[in-house]
Amino acid sequence: MDQAGNLRSLLDLHKKNSRPLPPAARVITVTSGKGGVGKTNFTVNLALYLHRKGVRVVVLDADLGLANIEILLGIAPKHSLLDVLAGKNTLEEIITHTHGGMGFISGGSGLVEMANISEEMLKITVQKLGALDEIADIILIDTGAGISNSVLKFVTAASECVVVCTPEPTSITDAYSLIKAVKDRGEKEPIPQLKIVINGAEDKDEGRNIFKNLQQVAQKFLSMELTHLGTLPHDANLRKAVRSQKPCVLSYPNTAFSREIENIGNKILDIQVEKPRGGMKGFMKRLTKIFGN
Ligand SMILES: Nc1ncnc2c1ncn2[C@@H]1O[C@H](COP(=O)(O)OP(=O)(O)OP(=O)(O)O)[C@@H](O)[C@H]1O
Ligand SMILES: [Mg+2]
Repeated sequence: MDQAGNLRSLLDLHKKNSRPLPPAARVITVTSGKGGVGKTNFTVNLALYLHRKGVRVVVLDADLGLANIEILLGIAPKHSLLDVLAGKNTLEEIITHTHGGMGFISGGSGLVEMANISEEMLKITVQKLGALDEIADIILIDTGAGISNSVLKFVTAASECVVVCTPEPTSITDAYSLIKAVKDRGEKEPIPQLKIVINGAEDKDEGRNIFKNLQQVAQKFLSMELTHLGTLPHDANLRKAVRSQKPCVLSYPNTAFSREIENIGNKILDIQVEKPRGGMKGFMKRLTKIFGN
């Protein structure tokens, strides 16, 4: 055998011996204690930035209220997750590819409906949605606000969670209540890594101080460690972007908000997640278990 042949058979042997891990996407929920703090804008702009960096992103709208992501992206998908649950459509059919290929799925009431379907259907659904592990590196889920049961279920089932909070005292106390509720729920199971984004701050110092306070209380009363992902400034261009239905990172790439989204996106990519709790399949299994209870 020639040298190249030797090398090839050596590589083949190596491939046979090392069992590759099944693909697993990072499932990241975006949530908040109080509503209207900038979750949807954060999710959409972060997703578009990561997509531009070559990361395979799928955004899942699990906010049962208004279809805000669709408005921000200027899209009107015909199908939602409910259609997959009803067996009407395949997963591929309900993914809208927008803005150069970024994936978007409208959750509808689909994720909550899972509580009412048969065991058999549930298995099929877990399998179907689990296929997202093959086509996405990161799945961002906008959960809507509040310490409602369903939001907490999504948050505890995910591998990572971003809590968005503004400098308003009520937003900070509500963020703390949410963190505490996650901790209380997670007594039996490991809880997701909690990451904090301060949105609408006057400057970085204000953001750092708010995070420091939140971190201190979380350490003292909950023995929890939080990560500060970044501080998004209050930015008039973001409002203009919302009005024109063209996301800020695209319409104002150099404005302060967009630049910080880039920093946060890079930070998320820098965080090494070896086994993101079994990816989308793990998330779905935990979610159905939690909804079953
Ligand atoms: N950094 C910012 N600078 C200026 N305006 C902002 C900023 N972040 C958010 N806003 C404004 O606040 C409004 C609410 O933002 P968004 O819809 O993203 O919040 P949300 O947390 O998703 O709300 P909900 O809880 O209702 O889902 C937006 O219309 C946007 O114009
Ligand atoms: Mg929203």
